[in-house]
Amino acid sequence: MSADPTRIAVALAERSYDVVIGKGLLAGAGELLKPLLPQPRLAVVTDETVASLHLPKLLQSLGGAGFACTEIVLPAGEASKDFTHLEALLGSLLEARIERGEAVLALGGGVIGDLAGLAASMLRRGVDVIQAPTTLLAQVDSAIGGKTGINTRHGKNLVGTFHQPRLVLCDTTALDTLPERDLRAGYAEVVKYGLLGDADFFAWLEEFGSALLAGDAVARRRAVIESCRTKARLVAADEREGGARALLNLGHTFAHALEAEAAYGGGLTHGEAVAVGLCLAFELSARLELAAASEAQRVSRHLTAVGLPSEPGQVLGRVDESMAERLLGHMRQDKKVQGGRLVFVLARGIGDAFVSNEVPEAEVLALLTDKLYPQARRGAEI
Ligand code: GLY
Repeated sequence: MSADPTRIAVALAERSYDVVIGKGLLAGAGELLKPLLPQPRLAVVTDETVASLHLPKLLQSLGGAGFACTEIVLPAGEASKDFTHLEALLGSLLEARIERGEAVLALGGGVIGDLAGLAASMLRRGVDVIQAPTTLLAQVDSAIGGKTGINTRHGKNLVGTFHQPRLVLCDTTALDTLPERDLRAGYAEVVKYGLLGDADFFAWLEEFGSALLAGDAVARRRAVIESCRTKARLVAADEREGGARALLNLGHTFAHALEAEAAYGGGLTHGEAVAVGLCLAFELSARLELAAASEAQRVSRHLTAVGLPSEPGQVLGRVDESMAERLLGHMRQDKKVQGGRLVFVLARGIGDAFVSNEVPEAEVLALLTDKLYPQARRGAEI
């Protein structure tokens, strides 16, 4: 285990916990967890891909610290985040007789974290959950803050709970085994932190983002630490998203609509959808004359430079004439809708985001139409 893990506190009174960031933490998990859990028994929930990479060293460490562990290995992929897999997981946890005072440990990316977190919050009306995120996206975002959820045919994460973990273990060495596409997708959430409130961090990412993606361990660690600090601060200020936490949804109203349109996992990752969503949120801000157009261009330039998509047409399949309307329809089903009004995170510039429910739907539709049918626009101009 790294000699110098960084600890970031998520200050939530009796539900406070630490996010621990460092190299090799999975191999030292047993000692980190021993003081936290009264009963030395755990169910480790993971997926097939992560199990083959990281489960043996985690189990060895937990066993060495005296934990009895049950392994529950699910299929990899977003399709596992549904009622069927939730029911099966709860059945496995009951069969393993996981009791209160014992815990569920989620080892994996956002899908495993959200699903195992939800199951833990329901099992016997709530058992502890430990988050051990292995993807960049989960380390900088989804594993922190207690959101759990599954997808339904009505939309993404529309069924879920708030259930804060007891500890988040971000082993940065796990990022070394991440496929390039997943690393890049997680990077979109890192960029989000710069855009929503830290212009210096965004400028740093413009300089070092490519090195980070290419494997620079120092840059990776700094990016994870900076992201987790911002996330911890926003969650501590607003656990249940009544105010400041909503800034974390920058780009996400667009992203969730794109994902729904692509039918979850149909070749589009959440991070890629977020990358496009960030660009659309800045373009919308520029159209509403809140931010300079040059700021929106800077956002899409950086995302493009690191190989992320910036246009909806790049992530959706064949564009048809009702697609812009359908995307708007998905947005109307978003969790963030308030009194029927769409809620967007807009920006006055890089590092200066705010929440608005005053965006006219016609502006959103016009933006999507221009993006999806640029030919039609050019035709109209001629
Ligand atoms: N991923 C957004 C949040 O946790 O609030």
